[in-house]
Amino acid sequence: MCGIVGYVGSKKATPVLINGLLSLEYRGYDSAGIAVIENNELSVLKDKGRVANLKQMPEIENLNSSIGIAHTRWATHGKPSRENSHPHLDNSKQFAVVHNGIIENYHELREFLTSKGYSFLSQTDTEVIPNLIHYYYTNGISDEDKFLRAVKSAVDDLKGSYAIEVISKLYPDRVIVVRKDSPLVIGTTKEENFIASDIPAILPYTKDFYLLDDYEYAVIYKDHIKFFDNTLSSRSKAIKNIEWDATAAEKNGFEDYMLKEIYEQPNSIRETIGSRFKLGEKCSFDDINLSKEYLQSINKIYIVACGTAMHAGLIGKNAIEKLCHIPTEVDIASEFRYRNPIIDDKTFCIYISQSGETADTIAALKLAKSKGAKTLAVSNVIGSSITREADYTIYTHAGPEIAVASTKAYTSQIVLLVIFAIYLTENLGRSDVATTESLKADILDLPTKLESVLAETEQIQKFADKIYTEHDMYFLGRGCDYNVAMEGSLKLKEISYIHSEAYAAGELKHGPIALIENGVTVIGILTNPDLVEKSISNLQEVVSRGAKTLIITNQKLSNSNFNYIINIPEINPLVSPILSVVPLQLFAYYIAKNKGLDVDKPRNLAKSVTVE
Ligand code: G6P
Repeated sequence: MCGIVGYVGSKKATPVLINGLLSLEYRGYDSAGIAVIENNELSVLKDKGRVANLKQMPEIENLNSSIGIAHTRWATHGKPSRENSHPHLDNSKQFAVVHNGIIENYHELREFLTSKGYSFLSQTDTEVIPNLIHYYYTNGISDEDKFLRAVKSAVDDLKGSYAIEVISKLYPDRVIVVRKDSPLVIGTTKEENFIASDIPAILPYTKDFYLLDDYEYAVIYKDHIKFFDNTLSSRSKAIKNIEWDATAAEKNGFEDYMLKEIYEQPNSIRETIGSRFKLGEKCSFDDINLSKEYLQSINKIYIVACGTAMHAGLIGKNAIEKLCHIPTEVDIASEFRYRNPIIDDKTFCIYISQSGETADTIAALKLAKSKGAKTLAVSNVIGSSITREADYTIYTHAGPEIAVASTKAYTSQIVLLVIFAIYLTENLGRSDVATTESLKADILDLPTKLESVLAETEQIQKFADKIYTEHDMYFLGRGCDYNVAMEGSLKLKEISYIHSEAYAAGELKHGPIALIENGVTVIGILTNPDLVEKSISNLQEVVSRGAKTLIITNQKLSNSNFNYIINIPEINPLVSPILSVVPLQLFAYYIAKNKGLDVDKPRNLAKSVTVE
């Protein structure tokens, strides 16, 4: 997975390219490079390491070109090295390519090209692309639109996923792009055009975007763009105006994006609620028109996602089952797609993906569609791949999430799923008005209550300061508190590299309690009034074995054997995860900070996993 940027205009390209790459580093950050056309020659600067290394290369100052492409890499084929960094050139150095995705048949393409006399400098799958372009360019392509036709012939040979940018020293006025299953957007103004893997990278320059479809080509000049379909017939395309504010994608005085995004949650939740309901009125989703007959025919719901989004799905399941009485299963997308799930036209499938680009989630959606189920995407990114595959989409509207570890997207996903559950029950005619109205009131209260949770940050920081050198931690809870424990544990692993596990508190005695010894840290989440007493008994068992305990609760605890207690406001249990997860997000954050780690870009992880 990688990030790509491109520019064609009248100003110097390199600062635009570098700034774009910096905001795409969440997609990968082991190597970076740029190619520009300088005095009718391709100039390439690239190396392993972060974009900051590229920025500091002395030669970069001498590049005055106003057309270029750039790449920040997360290695898939070939270790991080200068040779494996993008852009890649063909042997004749006439074509430069950057690519995000995976070319599955690159071995055979490499063999074919080798048999035609081409040689390769890298171990990447990408290097076949510029050479294929050169091969077709010099072998039987007619003169008309020769560059585009050569790119198209090369792309026709590729199997896999790709977002590709190509420039050529023979055509110094244009960038050609094409995509399939990897994201690519084009930002446009009258006198310059921008390309990127996602919107925030070019938001500082424009709010007008073209969202490229799979197999669609764009030939991008500084003052106009030509679009073509997969047969190279020209097509027109509408501009989409993106309302995000550029400053919303910057740090706004916070030390890291993650902390900023944690603090943004009261606001992102307000945005998610938007105008989807008012007290006393039914919930509505403008883009969904599911008839009552269809809704009544649903006999099972699957919620499918990866990572944090899957954890949000677990909370959604609880809300749907409680409010709608429809059996709901939550699945990890990479499992779902290969386990032959039982799906028919009475199955409704919900796919949650912040980025909308997660390969496993998209594949799982395509599978359900092919078996006749109706599909709903829950995404944060307008026009993302998953939203184009699904029958229906609802957007979280949480604003851009940059830190690799997801925080505000998770809470917004939960809010949206709970509102969707209310919508379902209301439209099924199964709602109990008193229950749904009181739940709606609690949802509207969430932002204010979240602000009061955030006001306790210092307390959480103090506990984190005391225990950040530890190697193992355990998170316990029951019901949704267990689901939140899973998310808290994932956050901790992701950014602090501390080993941690989440257990259903009642399961402790069936094995994990063997791990509890003097000084081990156990974090308990106790918010469901019906289950609190039972969880307290389980926590008592760890206290008596010498564990240090941090408790997140909205109940008055009679027992004060615990080391630290963080009190959060009481709220309907269906949405209390939104309040109880925040101390856990902060806890993971401050532990990672104490360890001196890069919280926004944890090792080995990427924000959007567009490969299997
Ligand atoms: C990666 C990220 C996680 C994220 C997961 C699903 O693993 O590191 O933070 O939860 O992908 O991403 P999605 O964009 O589909 O929600």
